[in-house]
Amino acid sequence: MALNLTEKILTAHLVGGDLTPGSEIAIHIDQTLTQDASGTMAYLQFEAMGLPRVRTELSVSYVDHNMLQTGFENADDHRFLQSIAARYGIYFSRPGNGICHQVHLERFARPGRTLLGSDSHTPNAGAMAMIAIGAGGLDVAVAMGGGPYHLAMPRVVGVELVGRLQPWVTAKDIILELLRRRSVKGGLGRVFEFLGDGVAALSVPQRATITNMGAELGATTSLFPSDEQTRAYLAWQKREEQYTPLAADPGAAYDELETIDLALLEPLIAQPQSPDNVVPVREIAGMPVAQVCVGSCNNSSYADLMTVAALLRGQRVHPDVSMTITPGSQLTFELVARTGALTDLIAAGARILEAGCGPCIGMGQAPPTGAVSVRTFNRNFNGRSGTLNDRVYLASPEVAVATALAGKITDPRTLGTPPAAAPLADVIHADALIIAPPEDGSRVEVLRGPNIKPLPTAPQVADTLRGEVLLRVGDNITTDHIMPASAHILPLRSNVPACAEHVFGRVDATFARRAREAGGGFVVAGANYGQGSAREHAALAPMYLGVRAVLAISFARIHWANLINFGIVPLTFAQPGGYGAIAQGDMLQLDGVRAAITAAQGLLVARNITQGTEVALTYAFTPRQRDIMLAGGLLNQIRAAALASPTPVSGR
Ligand code: F3S
Repeated sequence: MALNLTEKILTAHLVGGDLTPGSEIAIHIDQTLTQDASGTMAYLQFEAMGLPRVRTELSVSYVDHNMLQTGFENADDHRFLQSIAARYGIYFSRPGNGICHQVHLERFARPGRTLLGSDSHTPNAGAMAMIAIGAGGLDVAVAMGGGPYHLAMPRVVGVELVGRLQPWVTAKDIILELLRRRSVKGGLGRVFEFLGDGVAALSVPQRATITNMGAELGATTSLFPSDEQTRAYLAWQKREEQYTPLAADPGAAYDELETIDLALLEPLIAQPQSPDNVVPVREIAGMPVAQVCVGSCNNSSYADLMTVAALLRGQRVHPDVSMTITPGSQLTFELVARTGALTDLIAAGARILEAGCGPCIGMGQAPPTGAVSVRTFNRNFNGRSGTLNDRVYLASPEVAVATALAGKITDPRTLGTPPAAAPLADVIHADALIIAPPEDGSRVEVLRGPNIKPLPTAPQVADTLRGEVLLRVGDNITTDHIMPASAHILPLRSNVPACAEHVFGRVDATFARRAREAGGGFVVAGANYGQGSAREHAALAPMYLGVRAVLAISFARIHWANLINFGIVPLTFAQPGGYGAIAQGDMLQLDGVRAAITAAQGLLVARNITQGTEVALTYAFTPRQRDIMLAGGLLNQIRAAALASPTPVSGR
């Protein structure tokens, strides 16, 4: 039978289930990655499993989010991560080495492998024909222990790219076009597999811009075939021996098909405050801009920065604009410096930042009040930049530079002929900031500072859940809304009690206090609750505050799994009117919850004691999810199994 590429890779890694869309499958994971904001918890969780060493082909711990060392917290975390990586056989990418996805693509990604990462943009590596999936840190910890990763088999969308891009139109515009068509909910339960004659002309970094931002569609992952572009990229990285050609079989079927005629695309831009709020740049050209930021895991490759340098050469950034450039990796930084392009960036007046996530996660460069910021990033959710009610626009590096020079949003097609692609500089100093683990790490001391607090665990789910609706929110609530990032909150990620004080802080600053005073309760939400980042703190910290169930119209995939992993019951309104029948502050009571979870699927009634009404809720857990819920979360389940077993366990 002819298989598409998704099915091929999944079949080669399948350890449970079959590839029927919607049914639960279990796959073996070859590689894992963590970043520091989620990594400290993931490694504490791995440590709790009692294994001597990771059981993956490759695991890498990156430090890219919490780069500011304004106090001891981040520095403590960095030291903890370095020591625990050496202890358990994990490669360590030191602070300053760059963004996990950019570095992983350059140095570690391999065609045909599976990758699980505790960051939602892990599908970036789909550019290397990998099944690369973002997940919560606990799921990554289990995969590091050799346990399978469970997911609902996605529908496979074949995205046929036909023709060639016009000058000044880029890979960013391809993914923005998909977001325009499908919205941030359009990829839920789906894999986007790219095919067609338009694929061959796209380089691996261009493909990565597309697969990376597939996360904004809500997709499980996205991927490209492995072809001559893949070989060329691996050869550039001095890893050509890792090349394997991989593609869908001729005549392979797809659950859905989408066609994009590349020749018809034009420069696009996503307006505040959602990546799917996409319009042609020309429609909003002329809007004054105060800040332009190039970088993030979406557009920070060597090719991106060389293009930016070529466009800035001999020019000056507009005096009303602050322009920042964040290289995606230390390797990119070094190559751009060696070619002399760095001089062009500096001479034009751009501010060069350290390789890392930087402004993308609100680590500095928050824009001024009311000002427009144009960024080459992938997310523009309210407040993510560090400025509340920010006005962040997302576009290609070409649009960013045209805008930075003019001081207003500018269609780059007004700049004339685009520069030719820069030749590839020789990769000779790739791994200066990567530390390989020792053969035997058993004697390595794990260094813990006072910022590393013990892991809280969830209580058992009670049979009766009674409490107040602490918060009622609308559609598309992101994990940034639930557990904000930024320079003053991110350093608290290893300290859940302190971190929990900021839950929903940008939605309702009284939430944490009210949750504590009420002894916990419920959150009621609209559709696509928990979209965006994979951060498990968006489940862990509410659990710590006593949130026992979330009632929503629908959930985003990773957050749904994180809620279950941390013992919060995710329930869906059975009828369209259910959401409207509950107000914030209402007192709810759910009876028979444990029996309902034991049944795995069915209906549960929430009695609205305040209003004297009842609201029907549905739920559908797999047997595995049911067992996790009944155990009070995945960590409790793993610990119970470890106590019951004389030999180390690796999870579910
Ligand atoms: Fe970092 Fe932003 Fe990517 S926080 S991992 S650069 S989405």
